[in-house]
Amino acid sequence: MSENDRRPMFAANWKMHLGPADAEAFVGRFRDLYAPRGDARVVFFPPYLSVAAFLAASGDRPDLELGVQDVHQEEGGAHTGAVSASMAAQSGALWCLAGHSERRREFGDDDELIAAKVGRILAAGLRPVLCVGETLGEREAGRLEEVLSRQLAAVLTRLSDEDRARLTYAYEPVWAIGTGRTAAPSDAAEAHGLVRSEIGRAGGVVGATILYGGSVKPGNIDELLAAPGVDGVLVGGASVDPESFAAICSSGR
Ligand code: 13P
Repeated sequence: MSENDRRPMFAANWKMHLGPADAEAFVGRFRDLYAPRGDARVVFFPPYLSVAAFLAASGDRPDLELGVQDVHQEEGGAHTGAVSASMAAQSGALWCLAGHSERRREFGDDDELIAAKVGRILAAGLRPVLCVGETLGEREAGRLEEVLSRQLAAVLTRLSDEDRARLTYAYEPVWAIGTGRTAAPSDAAEAHGLVRSEIGRAGGVVGATILYGGSVKPGNIDELLAAPGVDGVLVGGASVDPESFAAICSSGR
């Protein structure tokens, strides 16, 4: 797969949902609902404990790709409870999220730490999905561009040109995550345009894949995917139900 694959990407961030038995049941049902399609990519980010169950249940469906939600910033060592990027790669993962707003808020992942994690993710041969996005307060204070610029530059300026070309991005306005409040397609298009120009300014690939995330569901997927500059979606709540995620992944079919 080329780094700049233009097929729409449908990504499921299961967050802290679906343990091994639930993950197995999900994949069993999802496979019946969603036939492989060559014109889209589908990636799942299960919790670590469910990685093995996900792989066992999806074994003969390589179109259902595996990612992980987080890695530690060190390669290995005495870090109780943590998982390294190379372990994630060894487990069969191809992708890894970095900079998710829940990691930023709940676990103190700041720009510097996120940059270190992205470095590890790339060094392990995984493909990072760098998540950026503003809070409601930041948006209302007119700081959208400044926040996106800071979050992107913090990572991109630390990478080589070659590594910068391997990034996928997700724009996730914090106020739209888990709230049922989705960005209007015009707001998503505007923010994706800003992300794209900041990527260019920081030396990244302007044509990179940028996902939208925040209360994506079957009822709004078509209009979001039709918004200029939206190359796919990163779905939380609606991705843990096989019916709704299959409906999302069937958009445009
Ligand atoms: P929701 O789809 O539940 O709003 O979550 C979005 C998200 O955070 C995906 O990473």
